[in-house]
Amino acid sequence: MPPFQSSKSQILILLLVRQVAIGISQKICSYDSLISNLSLDSESRPVHGRPVKDWKEPSLISIDIDLEAVLDMDEKLQLLSSLMTFTVTWENEFLTWNSEDFCGISRLHILPELLWTPDIYVSERTEEDQSPPVPYILLYSNGTIYWKKPMRLVTACSLDLYKFPFDIQKCNLTFGPYTYSVEDIIMVQNTDSKQKTLSSQKNFAKGEWLLLGLDVFSKNVTNEDRIYSKVIYRITIQRTPMLYIINLIVPACFLVLVDIASMFIPMEGGERLGFKITVVLGFSVLLLILNDFLPNSEIPPILGIFCTVCLIIMIVSIVDSIFISYMLHLSAVRPDVPKWLKIWVLRRLAYIMCISTKEYADENATVISNTKKETTDPTSSQETELQDRRHLLKEHQDSAEIKLLKRLLVEILMIRRHLIMSKKEEEAKSEWHMVAFILDRFILILYLFTVLIIAITVVVVWVS
Ligand SMILES: *[C@@H]1O[C@H](CO)[C@@H](O)[C@H](O)[C@H]1NC(C)=O
Ligand SMILES: *[C@@H]1O[C@H](CO)[C@@H](O)[C@H](O)[C@H]1NC(C)=O
Ligand SMILES: *[C@@H]1O[C@H](CO)[C@@H](O)[C@H](O)[C@H]1NC(C)=O
Ligand SMILES: *[C@@H]1O[C@H](CO)[C@@H](O)[C@H](O)[C@H]1NC(C)=O
Repeated sequence: MPPFQSSKSQILILLLVRQVAIGISQKICSYDSLISNLSLDSESRPVHGRPVKDWKEPSLISIDIDLEAVLDMDEKLQLLSSLMTFTVTWENEFLTWNSEDFCGISRLHILPELLWTPDIYVSERTEEDQSPPVPYILLYSNGTIYWKKPMRLVTACSLDLYKFPFDIQKCNLTFGPYTYSVEDIIMVQNTDSKQKTLSSQKNFAKGEWLLLGLDVFSKNVTNEDRIYSKVIYRITIQRTPMLYIINLIVPACFLVLVDIASMFIPMEGGERLGFKITVVLGFSVLLLILNDFLPNSEIPPILGIFCTVCLIIMIVSIVDSIFISYMLHLSAVRPDVPKWLKIWVLRRLAYIMCISTKEYADENATVISNTKKETTDPTSSQETELQDRRHLLKEHQDSAEIKLLKRLLVEILMIRRHLIMSKKEEEAKSEWHMVAFILDRFILILYLFTVLIIAITVVVVWVS
């Protein structure tokens, strides 16, 4: 072969080899080569500085949350525990590449420790995030960083339990940087309130709480002369009250009804008292359950007020029952009703309650006084008569018939006296009964009135 030809073919072969080599280098790319090109693997790479070329330029941090569930609401400690997906996006001006130079690699999964990350925290958070950490964040070729992670937030939320269990709660989640002020970091909301509400309602797990709305606001907050940019998510949730209606409200109402019905158990005998005390014990168990739900707040829930008022009126009616059984006992021991009680109960209270005892009280009084007069006067006159006769009879011969008649007369007089006494006692007894009856009915009316008013108030508060 001539030397000219051989050099020509050598050049051709060289060109071919070079062509093949370039082809291979374009087809085969690894993530590692990209990582080393971005010098993400070097130890000396600084990760602390905010990644902007001009330090005066603020970073825009865009965030978004997807509320998935309300896991728990601790009414006592006023804590809301919620589950959500948290997404935060920002730009790193130094980490950009041309994807065509790296066989079309347009995104990279990298460890967050290798990069600057914004120090975003939730102001209301009270506990560490319990959800498992997500190891990677996404880096796009244009420098956009996309960090998505699940979050289980336990946040403080001041609850308004006045309408419990028909309450609607509003809790704020305030996201913002802890140290960077508004000159460095500006928080941006990704979606508006309406969109957010709709998309969250779709995914929201139905449980004790229903999601009514998820509103988003951006705000600049001044704290110690520095302004911080914040994005606030306001969660509006409504409690589903069925459980509390079944477990608390219905039993409480029925116990009150039973206690009202027990006012019609006859006053005599101790059954009513025992029954009432049992009902109050049952009611106090309900109060204990209620106590578990309710925090120590300024304005107590209207349901708590209702239960307390019912308990008070129940105890008043127990005291009334004790008082009445004491009165019935008195009627046997001390038959006379004191005058003040007669005036206050038999006249005034009975008049207020439109129970006609006027004739009863007055006539009784007159009857008693009449009988007193009748009994005292005739007997004494008869006794004097008797003594006169005795004198006369002494002078006469005491015949057997007269003796017998005398004895009979004395006996009859004794019987008469006894009859009058027992009649008086009976009347006094029925007077005590009347006093007890009127007092009892008064307490019943008071009871019904109180329960009705508090029940109407509670319903009005719940409906409004
Ligand atoms: C990274 O790749 C680009 C384009 O291929 C190249 O210009 C640059 O020198 C590389 N940098 C390093 C540090 O390897
Ligand atoms: C960077 O790329 C991602 C993914 O393609 C895109 O969502 C984002 O809007 C881009 N960012 C900019 C600033 O163009
Ligand atoms: C929640 O945030 C909104 C909007 O800034 C504010 O009006 C409201 O007072 C906040 N509520 C609480 C309880 O902090
Ligand atoms: C907060 O302040 C920054 C910088 O002054 C401004 O760009 C931004 O619009 C402000 N945001 C709100 C919600 O006022």
